[in-house]
Amino acid sequence: MPPRRTKLSDRSSRHDRAYTKAKHEGFAARAIYKLQEIDQRFKLLKSGARVIDLGCWPGSWMQYTAGKVGPEGRVLGIDLREVTIALPDFCEAIVGDVTEWSPPAGETFDVVLSDMAPHTTGDRHSDQWRSEELCRRAIEIARQALRPGGHLVVKVFQGGAFPELLRELRGAFQEGKAYHAENTRASSTEQYLIGRGLKASASLRAPAPAT
Ligand SMILES: C[S@@+](CC[C@H](N)C(=O)[O-])C[C@H]1O[C@@H](n2cnc3c(N)ncnc32)[C@H](O)[C@@H]1O
Repeated sequence: MPPRRTKLSDRSSRHDRAYTKAKHEGFAARAIYKLQEIDQRFKLLKSGARVIDLGCWPGSWMQYTAGKVGPEGRVLGIDLREVTIALPDFCEAIVGDVTEWSPPAGETFDVVLSDMAPHTTGDRHSDQWRSEELCRRAIEIARQALRPGGHLVVKVFQGGAFPELLRELRGAFQEGKAYHAENTRASSTEQYLIGRGLKASASLRAPAPAT
């Protein structure tokens, strides 16, 4: 008799395939395929775009983004951990905590990405709460950094504050929706919030410093 296959095992083997594929294709993490899936669906990353990547370590989203924006663009990543992979010179990865960091004043960005995840404790509620706090901070940074019309992608582990975060996103962007990437573990509560077209009225961009 042939072995029985469940939906769950299909999904986890797809996850393992993504890991092997990422290694084979020279990407730093399988997370690359989530961004690729989101970008193909929502068409966010264009040649020449200026992009911030929050929670960028080990660097697969920076690698993908660099390939999309090219040398006319800029990719600025930040993470608690140092990115050690080689990246093109229009990419910059800094070490820092987004709760204490603000985007460079006087620079304007087209897209903010956040794949940030808290160090998980195993306590689902506390992990969700900390993820929601990081998501809230990513929305704030997007409002500080983006030009009006710019876009945001932000990961969040769905918990009690999720409806409020979605409302906040929709208040700041022309279009806001939640998206569950196919390349996600079946057991995960992970969602991506996609905000397209920052409203001018939601911009918190600081004026350029006087020279
Ligand atoms: C899932 S990983 C990101 C993977 C990355 N997108 C890639 O493709 O290589 C989540 C990252 O969020 C970072 N992170 C969590 N809290 C942070 C904070 N307060 N400031 C900066 N980075 C943070 C973690 O250090 C971790 O490296």
